[in-house]
Amino acid sequence: MNGATLNLSAVTSGYRASVVIRDLSLTVGAGEAVALLGKNGMGKTTLLKTIMGYLPKKQGSVHVNGSDITRLPPHRIAQVGIAYAAQEKPLFTELSIRDNLRMGLEKDALFDERFAAIEPVFPVFKDRLKQYAGTLSGGEQKMLLVARALMMRPSIILLDEITEGLQPSVIDRIAVALMHERQLHGTTLLLIEQNVPFALKVADRYLVLKQGEIEEDGDAHAAGAAESIFNHLRV
Ligand SMILES: Nc1ncnc2c1ncn2[C@@H]1O[C@H](COP(=O)(O)OP(=O)(O)OP(=O)(O)O)[C@@H](O)[C@H]1O
Ligand SMILES: [Mg+2]
Repeated sequence: MNGATLNLSAVTSGYRASVVIRDLSLTVGAGEAVALLGKNGMGKTTLLKTIMGYLPKKQGSVHVNGSDITRLPPHRIAQVGIAYAAQEKPLFTELSIRDNLRMGLEKDALFDERFAAIEPVFPVFKDRLKQYAGTLSGGEQKMLLVARALMMRPSIILLDEITEGLQPSVIDRIAVALMHERQLHGTTLLLIEQNVPFALKVADRYLVLKQGEIEEDGDAHAAGAAESIFNHLRV
């Protein structure tokens, strides 16, 4: 099995003088799927950017399978096996679908085998590999983002609001793809979501982030999980 443990220990981070993530500790076990929920502006994207090294940690540390990645730059963190589907500007719109999918692979020789594995889940890309990514519809671009993450066959996948703006059938397809990936490879998932049913379907555990701190940590399959999350998100 492929999944790695992600461990954050007392991480503080933010932008220049402003602190967004405060003293946050969190472990996602190898092969575990955790959904992180929270209202707009609570620091969810900031947390993922911090894990990926796009923002420096002001304090604390991040480990993957016990190795310290706290001070590594983003490309090195990707090499450790973390795939990141970001919320903003995630695709290379001037490049083809193929080049976008190829992005995270060490060598071109891996392409055909990896693409064959994801193609049944995302048939929309079949015969369209030469098309510019920028010409895809919004929903197709989101699918490409997930497909690109899966192509890397990462040990950890970080997804930032991947279901935003997608029709229900595409959301279902992505849920199936992620569950399938976990079954096959034991991949660890940390997903940020506003879509509570999707989050609870894919995740084992959920966390609610409020003002940069974890306010609730619960079992995604427990009765009342959705209601409890809605109560946090309501006000
Ligand atoms: N580049 C930046 N410089 C300064 N402050 C920022 C920057 N990016 C985000 N922030 C602030 O950090 C806080 C957390 O933002 P973040 O994007 O992490 O929230 P979020 O939980 O992902 O929200 P959403 O659900 O809307 O995506 C917000 O108050 C935001 O204004
Ligand atoms: Mg965000």
